[in-house]
Amino acid sequence: MNQKMDKLPTTAVFLFAAIGSAVGLGNIWRFPYLVGKYGGAEFLIPYFLLLVVVGVPLLILELALGQRLHRGPVSVFKSIMPPLGGIGVAASLAGCLIAIYYAVVVAWSLMMLFSSFGSGWQVDPASFFFREVLHSSSSPNHFYLISTLLLFALVICWICVYLFLWRGVRNSSVLVAVIMPIPFLLLFIILLNGLSYPGAWEGIVYYLKPSVETLYDAEVWVAAMTQVFFSLSLGLGIMITFGNYELTHKEVVRCACLVALADGLVALLSGLVVFVTIGHMASSGGLSIEDLAASGPTLSFIVFAKALSLLPGAPFFAFIFFLILFVLGLNGLASLVEAVALAVREHFPSISKATISLYVCIFCCLGGLIYTTGAGLYFLDTVDHFVTTFSLLTVGLAQALVVGWLPRALEFQKWVHSISQWKVGRLWLWSIKYISPAILTILLAFSFYHESKHLYASYPLWVVFTFGWGAVALTYLGWGLYAIYATENRRNVTELFYPD
Ligand code: PHE
Repeated sequence: MNQKMDKLPTTAVFLFAAIGSAVGLGNIWRFPYLVGKYGGAEFLIPYFLLLVVVGVPLLILELALGQRLHRGPVSVFKSIMPPLGGIGVAASLAGCLIAIYYAVVVAWSLMMLFSSFGSGWQVDPASFFFREVLHSSSSPNHFYLISTLLLFALVICWICVYLFLWRGVRNSSVLVAVIMPIPFLLLFIILLNGLSYPGAWEGIVYYLKPSVETLYDAEVWVAAMTQVFFSLSLGLGIMITFGNYELTHKEVVRCACLVALADGLVALLSGLVVFVTIGHMASSGGLSIEDLAASGPTLSFIVFAKALSLLPGAPFFAFIFFLILFVLGLNGLASLVEAVALAVREHFPSISKATISLYVCIFCCLGGLIYTTGAGLYFLDTVDHFVTTFSLLTVGLAQALVVGWLPRALEFQKWVHSISQWKVGRLWLWSIKYISPAILTILLAFSFYHESKHLYASYPLWVVFTFGWGAVALTYLGWGLYAIYATENRRNVTELFYPD
């Protein structure tokens, strides 16, 4: 790793950097819309259960792998056994695909930020968002027109990401440490204000009152699992890259638990704000909470705009809110690009980190063009659904199997144990060895079956094939090709894994 990383001084900075990478649009944009899509409280139980049972153990695994081997996502697995480097290739390709659309959501935030001092968004947030931000067409087949403003915002986002990286990750983690309490505070203010409006209580009930029936619905469990991966930045090489930081106190387990806790709390809180507001919107607009909640990837933007418009001094709060969303998004994006760039750099060590980051940013920016078209929203929804379901969960499964079933996995566990203030005991190994692989296998098997029987969101076949299966195939293909290419260079596993 580069020297900058080695010089990081304290666990606190590491922790803030890791929390900064985990807390992002996933919590404020993706979590509420999945809760709405999958029926409110029914989503929360699987989500928090999977967060603890699968998410935290995998987070420990990724951080510990980075700590132990001090390599990027591809080399970590390659050093275990050359063909396994394909896992890192798949993770990096999935990272690229996600970065491409994630940046577009950051660009939505930027457009809302620019609009915050106008009045259009306050009058009718939904039509403002669809008309002024997305320029959305009524069908995925109508994708000819590009929204120039959105394209412009996207380019600005990528320039900012590059500057973020260029200034160094250390700066950004300190920045995040400073601004981290602000989202909490702001969400609380919006929540307190929202609670005074009629209908808020119905929203809370919808959000928090569990029903056991939907716990049998495998689709909800799959969505919850994808959200755990997305929110903790798992299966993308990001946390392996973070694990490379040299800590004064190598407290992997404590960091993993605190990151998951902070991440879960921000998600829970932003969901609460969204559903309190939906409750009010439903009671004042004569619509049902279910209908409003099921509006998909645009939900959070519309509902937060509505919640902000209810505040006194709405433009000011909207400006701060979207600025924070923008900065959190940039930080998430920067950590994603950094992981991809590290993976690339390990194979082209002669090219500087800055140059590779620049290429990755340009490539992803160009890729994002497709999402600035009138049908961009449909494409984005499809890629997000497929890549998070298949690519991320498969990478997670492979990671668990590799580490859980290595001949000397127990020693690796002992090592994690020895460097941690909070002891993991056998629970972690059980999760990595049996529980996580079993859950991920079942969810993946169900998803393959389910998606082959149903056309996702009733989108046209070409959309599902190109943006759904096509994207997934790309990550699997990269994995397979790398495995074939690397098969000849097999080396002994355990020497590298347990150098001491
Ligand atoms: N986990 C972060 C979030 O929820 C960051 C992230 C970046 C996630 C890129 C996925 C991909 O926003």
